[in-house]
Amino acid sequence: MTNGTAKESGSVDKRLPQHIAIIMDGNGRWAKKRGLPRYAGHPAGVEAVRGVVEVCVELQIPVLTLFAFSSENWQRPQKEVNLIMDLFMRSLKKEVRRLERNHVKLRVIGDRNAFADNLQQQIEEAERQTENNQGLLLQVAANYGGRWDIAQAAKRLAEQVQLGKIAPQQIDEEQFSRHLCFADVPEPDLFIRTGGEKRISNFLLWQCAYTELYFSDMLWPDFNRKALEEALHDFSSRQRRFGRTGEQVQDRTAEAS
Ligand code: IPE
Ligand code: IPE
Ligand code: MG
Repeated sequence: MTNGTAKESGSVDKRLPQHIAIIMDGNGRWAKKRGLPRYAGHPAGVEAVRGVVEVCVELQIPVLTLFAFSSENWQRPQKEVNLIMDLFMRSLKKEVRRLERNHVKLRVIGDRNAFADNLQQQIEEAERQTENNQGLLLQVAANYGGRWDIAQAAKRLAEQVQLGKIAPQQIDEEQFSRHLCFADVPEPDLFIRTGGEKRISNFLLWQCAYTELYFSDMLWPDFNRKALEEALHDFSSRQRRFGRTGEQVQDRTAEAS
């Protein structure tokens, strides 16, 4: 894939994912390899975020979801957690103007109640400042866990049943998924994990049921335009069958063209 494919063709490439979800892993190892303390990898990770957002904007990818901090990451040493929170705060303040320029709309997903009040306010402020932007939707998953997402959806549904708004018989997959985070956007087409591990680590559990998985050994701060383009190229060669046979999928593609 060459740079700016979507721009050059004047339309969005149909083989491009409409939603990319990324587990940005490997910041600590990246820093240690350089003889630095592991938390020094996180600011370098923010640089990589900037680059990936830029490519997604260029390619007119509608949604990008980044796993920034999991509900399990609170278990890290307090010093590292504090530094990550500090970095989150500073990045929100600093990046909002760049997001504006690129027409990026920011949304933070996860249980934000656990964050300090001033961080919660900064999140709201950044979301408000970018809410009318019509370009890329950038979803940052912070204090997010896939199980938390499913449990909070179950809780909201139970409340509706208790209020008599819906009957238990009405609960199906469609109804359930309306209560998950970002029910208004398509599920991810492409999931990328950097850092070499091949696991989901409690990221989007429900939403990744049919997502194409791509694992890279590259450490997140090194993940650049070329690496993303490689992932997109790999994605474009996959046949997504959603339970059908390969032949059925080919027939449908032929009919559509
Ligand atoms: C990912 O990088 C960033 C967060 C989880 C906040 P890590 O900090 O997990 O880096 P490694 O996996 O230890 O190298
Ligand atoms: C997943 O990375 C979470 C984020 C990238 C935010 P971890 O480094 O926390 O995952 P594990 O612990 O290796 O599974
Ligand atoms: Mg890690």
